[in-house]
Amino acid sequence: MAVIGVYDSGIGGLSVLRALREQLPGQDMIYLADSGHSPYGERESAHVLRRARRITAHLRERRIDALVVACNTATAAAIEELRSEHPDLPIIGVEPALKPAVALSQTRRIGVLATRGTLHSDKFARLLEPLQKQAQFVLRACDGLALAIENSLDGSAHSAAALLECARAHVGALGDCARSEGHIDTVVLGCTHYPLVAPLLQELVGAGVSLLETGPSVARQTRHRLGAAVESSAAAGPGHLWLQCTGTGRQLQQAASRWLDAAHAVESIDLPD
Ligand code: DGL
Repeated sequence: MAVIGVYDSGIGGLSVLRALREQLPGQDMIYLADSGHSPYGERESAHVLRRARRITAHLRERRIDALVVACNTATAAAIEELRSEHPDLPIIGVEPALKPAVALSQTRRIGVLATRGTLHSDKFARLLEPLQKQAQFVLRACDGLALAIENSLDGSAHSAAALLECARAHVGALGDCARSEGHIDTVVLGCTHYPLVAPLLQELVGAGVSLLETGPSVARQTRHRLGAAVESSAAAGPGHLWLQCTGTGRQLQQAASRWLDAAHAVESIDLPD
């Protein structure tokens, strides 16, 4: 039976894990939140690459059959290296949904919310370049937003207000969003943390504006890559989920009980560089 390893800098990858568990319910999965070394989005890409290598080695010790890098920033910084260092392992990454946005947008004005690391990467530049003939893109590096989402899990009024202020500033910087000419009618959520607060972001961009996330298409791609291994495990009943976290584990615990179907124990591990 196949085991899928999934990781992110923190809880953001749960937006991908949720889609994986919906589409591959019989699959065993192990999710690692690298909270002790996050956030990734405002760090050097060398740090993100080092963490990618360390985490992949750790997950391989757990005998994973596929790896989902459930983080746009880590995909941009490390997926090519991981694929060449682990040619025998299917490795699936996440990238901002620019192509689906071009297909969907009527106004041809598209907003992209992502981390600084993702937007400044060569991989993102290669993705964007050919699409610029077809639409105008307004890019916004959302410093602090992933962290504010993590912090808001404590449920306090203070952290909720800080999240609202941070999200409002970044969405506001995109300019006018609406389904009418000259406005942004489609906003790409280019960081896996952002779909976790989609209702808040929807309120800020306005009801008619489309928000695009990538979790479901990453899950479809993973199912396709695993092929027969998935079909055989589906018959064996619901898959097991292990949650691991570098750092305290409290936020992953809170996030998992809020966004996954059932309570799951979190194992805190030490994974130094
Ligand atoms: N969830 C990650 C992403 O998709 C990044 C969050 C962070 O800055 O650590 O880019």
